[in-house]
Amino acid sequence: MVNELIGKVAIVTGGASGIGAGIVEKFVAEGARVVIADIERDRGEDFAATIGADVTFRSVDVSDPAQVGALVSSAIETFGRLDVMVNNAGISSKMHRSFLDDDLADFQRVMAVNVLGVMAGTRDAARQMATSGGGSIINMSSIGGIQAGGGVMAYRASKAAVIMFTKSSAIELAHFDVRVNAIAPGSIPTPILASSTSGKTREELERFEQKLRAQMRADRPLQREGTPEDVAEAALYLAGDRSRYVTGTVMRVDGGTAAGKVVRRRSEEKN
Ligand SMILES: NC(=O)c1ccc[n+]([C@@H]2O[C@H](COP(=O)([O-])OP(=O)(O)OC[C@H]3O[C@@H](n4cnc5c(N)ncnc54)[C@H](O)[C@@H]3O)[C@@H](O)[C@H]2O)c1
Repeated sequence: MVNELIGKVAIVTGGASGIGAGIVEKFVAEGARVVIADIERDRGEDFAATIGADVTFRSVDVSDPAQVGALVSSAIETFGRLDVMVNNAGISSKMHRSFLDDDLADFQRVMAVNVLGVMAGTRDAARQMATSGGGSIINMSSIGGIQAGGGVMAYRASKAAVIMFTKSSAIELAHFDVRVNAIAPGSIPTPILASSTSGKTREELERFEQKLRAQMRADRPLQREGTPEDVAEAALYLAGDRSRYVTGTVMRVDGGTAAGKVVRRRSEEKN
């Protein structure tokens, strides 16, 4: 569809990079006006400038509820309304070979950005939407919040929290015609993976990422890599009126990863 979001105003947190940037591009292509909210000012301003007048950038740390409140107010001041809030900003915790090696030093920050940021964004957007006839809130969870695994425990815990918060707030906010849904992407190549590893040279990081991605592809029913645009398609559906009867749901965009084990064809098993 074209112009699916015409007349709508959206905020996309973490919109300066990766999945968030893909959502910004998709929303603008469909007619929305968008506020990009990100902690990375230079990257965000440059990106907003490449898109044009339908986009503005605001420097925001979503882990500070006061900044999130000011963000919502600024969207109203700039564009006059708020229809869609995408709480996408997120960070990974550091990756550890064993949980026994995890000093939990990043726990507070991961929870503050990934959970408090989502809760503040939902509350403040809903306060506004409740006065203007409703809206759509989209919270970015992860397959890591659904499927158990190792490595990044605080991240997994934070993304599971996003899912339960999304369902619970959907029940409360339905009264105001505010829909709240989550998206759970599988692994999508963006800078977030590199941020979870430390002490690696660029070459080591590339080798590590290639190996990890090959392993994840092999475990994925749809074996290609996912893209920010794949996730943006789900966000577009949840943002627009086609999903008007959908709330409290978690949409996996993971190439089938969480559906179950890959079924190998007999011919593949022989090789
Ligand atoms: N890439 C993946 O494999 C994957 C998988 C599942 C879920 N996700 C989730 O998708 C979302 C986007 O991740 P991505 O892969 O595009 O990563 P990314 O690192 O490319 O983008 C994250 C953006 O969030 C911004 N950000 C970080 N902390 C912030 C803060 N405190 N306030 C405001 N902005 C902040 C960053 O500056 C960056 O622009 C995250 O919530 C992530 O957990 C990603």
